[in-house]
Parts: sequence; C-alpha cells; structure tokens
Amino acid sequence: MTEYDKLAEHYLARRKDKTRLDYNRDIEVPALIKMIGDVKNKIVLDMGCGFGDHAKKLSKQNYKKLVGFDISKELVKYANQQKIPNSTFYVGEMSKKLKHEDLSFDIVYSSLAIHYIKNINKLFKEVNRVLKKKGIFCFSTGHPIFNLINQNDDNMVGVKRQPDGKLILFGDYFDESPKPNDLGSLGKVELCNFTYETLIKAGIDNGFELIDYKDAKPTKSSENYDSEKYRLTNTLPTFILFKFKKK
Ligand SMILES: C[S@@+](CC[C@H](N)C(=O)[O-])C[C@H]1O[C@@H](n2cnc3c(N)ncnc32)[C@H](O)[C@@H]1O
Repeated sequence: MTEYDKLAEHYLARRKDKTRLDYNRDIEVPALIKMIGDVKNKIVLDMGCGFGDHAKKLSKQNYKKLVGFDISKELVKYANQQKIPNSTFYVGEMSKKLKHEDLSFDIVYSSLAIHYIKNINKLFKEVNRVLKKKGIFCFSTGHPIFNLINQNDDNMVGVKRQPDGKLILFGDYFDESPKPNDLGSLGKVELCNFTYETLIKAGIDNGFELIDYKDAKPTKSSENYDSEKYRLTNTLPTFILFKFKKK
C-alpha cells in the first residue's frame, strides 16, 4: 500500500472542503490547467493523476483521449469511478519505463508528482519518447523558496541569529535526497526537493525547449473563504510550473 492509498479518503475530503484554501484546488490545479492550454482533439497523458481532478476539468474541452496513471490503487479507483468521457486510468509507476508506444501523445502533464521520483532524467527521456514531435510536457512541483522554509527544522534552509549576534547558515538547498515533507493534516510524505537547475536542465538535456514558466498564485475567489491563507500564498510562492516543448 502506498502513502497516498492511506491518505486517499482524507485527500479527497480535504479537496472538497470549502472552509479552507486548498493548495491543490485553489492554486495548483487552475494554474496547471491554464498552462496546459488547448487540449481539444488532443491525445493526453496524465502522470500521477490522483483521483482525476485535472482530467475531469480538461475533459470539458473535449480532448480526443486521455490516459492517466498513478501508483495509488485507491486514487485510480476514484478516478475511474468518475466516468470521465474518453478517459482511462490505470495503476502505474513513473520511475519505470512507460508502457506507451513512441510518439503516441500530443500532451503529457504531471501535477505535483515528479518530486516522488529520484531519477527525473530517466523520466524526462521517457516523456520525450512517448511524445509526438513538438509535443508539450507541463509539470508542477513545490516552489524551491516555499520548500526551503516550509519544512521541519531538520530540512529547512535558512539563516539563524545566535544569542551572541552571529548569523549561522543551516540546511542545504542542493540536497535533493528524499526527505519527509509536511502536508499539513495529511501528515508527512517523503519527496525530493529539486533545484531550479535540476528541473530546467532535465528538460534541456533531454530534447526539450522551455516555452513557459509560472510562479503559481491562488485564485481570487479563494480570498472569500480563507483570506488569511490567500494573503499568505499570494505573498509566499507555493508551486512552480514549467512548460516544455519537444524539439
Ligand atoms: C500531490 S498528489 C497529486 C495528485 C493529482 N495530480 C492531483 O492533483 O490530485 C501526488 C500523486 O503522485 C502519485 N505518485 C507518487 N509517486 C508516484 C510514482 N512513483 N508513480 C506514479 N504516481 C506517483 C501519488 O500517488 C499521488 O496521487
């Protein structure tokens, strides 16, 4: 059983709760959907699809076909229960060779999942293989600035003033080894905090050009039900999004 299998029910309930700003629903999902752009008549792959939230929203644009996969059996079950038109979801693993043919997708996207993979170069190579020429690869991950300060003391990076007035530096921005990450009421899951360099070079070194980038901000409507978190996430960046094009 994966971490997200254990969290699945709570993950869904938290996403629906409109008494609080939800980092996925109110920040990442709308930002990634906007960045992906037009999917009409396209063939799309969603890696780390969860319960199919992005797929459901994108399906309003009438894609030709969407295939999603996730390591969590529970979340894939929820995704299939939604009966999203022209969509199928299966249990799969991003760190392994993708089971799809070469040149089979127009668009590949991955929402907040690549940080669970240690070797993202291998993943980018696989994405390049399954994408058609000039195909699009969009993904989101935690914002390095947010990651630096939103973790427990053991993993944070920063500067502390000592009682004697001296400043000491702690933590390591360049340490990409998996570490526990605090997901609030969901508890902690292990993930890798990649540097900008790693993310950008993974694209460049594996046959892509970078065509768009976003520091995501919350939707204006979320201010109505959670003004404090709205103010916080409008000031402190939470997620970064990249759009690469296969050369
Ligand atoms: C933060 S959730 C995002 C899920 C979904 N994209 C959404 O927005 O609801 C991260 C997802 O990555 C999945 N995941 C983690 N490791 C994975 C792996 N090695 N292969 C495929 N999916 C993975 C988890 O099961 C989880 O559904």
